[in-house]
Amino acid sequence: MTESPSIHSIGEFVLSVPSLRQAEHFYTSFGLGVREEGNHLSLRAACGDHRWGRVVERERKFLHHVTFHCFEEDLPRFKSRLENSGIRLLDPPAEFGSDGLWFRGHDGILMEIRVGPKTSPDEISEVKPPSYEAGVRNAPYRRLAQKVEIQRLSHILLFTTGIDKAIEFYTNVLGLRLSDRSADVVAFLHAVHGSDHHIVAFAQSDRPGLHHVSWIVPSVDQIGLGAMAMTDQGYKKSWGTGRHVLGSNYFHYIQDPWGSWCEYACGIDYIPACMDWVGKDHPLEDGFYLWGPDVPPEFVVNVESENG
Ligand SMILES: [Fe+2]
Repeated sequence: MTESPSIHSIGEFVLSVPSLRQAEHFYTSFGLGVREEGNHLSLRAACGDHRWGRVVERERKFLHHVTFHCFEEDLPRFKSRLENSGIRLLDPPAEFGSDGLWFRGHDGILMEIRVGPKTSPDEISEVKPPSYEAGVRNAPYRRLAQKVEIQRLSHILLFTTGIDKAIEFYTNVLGLRLSDRSADVVAFLHAVHGSDHHIVAFAQSDRPGLHHVSWIVPSVDQIGLGAMAMTDQGYKKSWGTGRHVLGSNYFHYIQDPWGSWCEYACGIDYIPACMDWVGKDHPLEDGFYLWGPDVPPEFVVNVESENG
């Protein structure tokens, strides 16, 4: 048991959108397993049966809530911490009943902490190198190209009204630690039980919202194949391919039908359990990306009208 309670993983995110049919097409094209379950869609990766996300139909797109997982012994400790911090515990939303702790974050985003499996990895996720043999053609015909194989969710990036307040809330209440930041523009946080360089990240905005959800694929080749398949399906607004500096991962972002983004990622840095990683403040122009195309202006726009 750690000194103080800390969540170890993102259990799932729940997004509300105006059209489930549109969501089904987008996420299926992206490479996720999409199932209709009751009145929502569930999102799963190619590996395992964990439900990483749900999509519900509402009038507008917004991040409905995020569920974080903790170990069993930490749940009562979280309850005490929330009560001692003056954070009001809420009843679960009608269709999402559970035995978790429900409350709102520093800028109103609804969240839940519940006991659940550690979905964050216990070791670094390796990047599969391309295989090359002499004397043969190593690339397949385009029509035989592999379908993208999403392994798991890596992180979510949220817009926040205050980077410092976000860091304070997510470290003091959820028990995450700061991995790195760039001034008051972006910040990245990891879990102390071993996780990717960031499981939650923040970008400054004038209101809360969801910027992107990031999904791990096994190779840079798969990032390219996924990006091409999405273009073929009509999802042409993107940023990438490139490589970040903070997190080190290769990336390609595809804009979803509602103006937020889905990221294909591989090669993200890993922070082992109990490591004393020293979070630093990096110049934005050095830390954002090592290489890649110019950032499209729509990439940094918060399209969420208000928090639901
Ligand atoms: Fe990302």
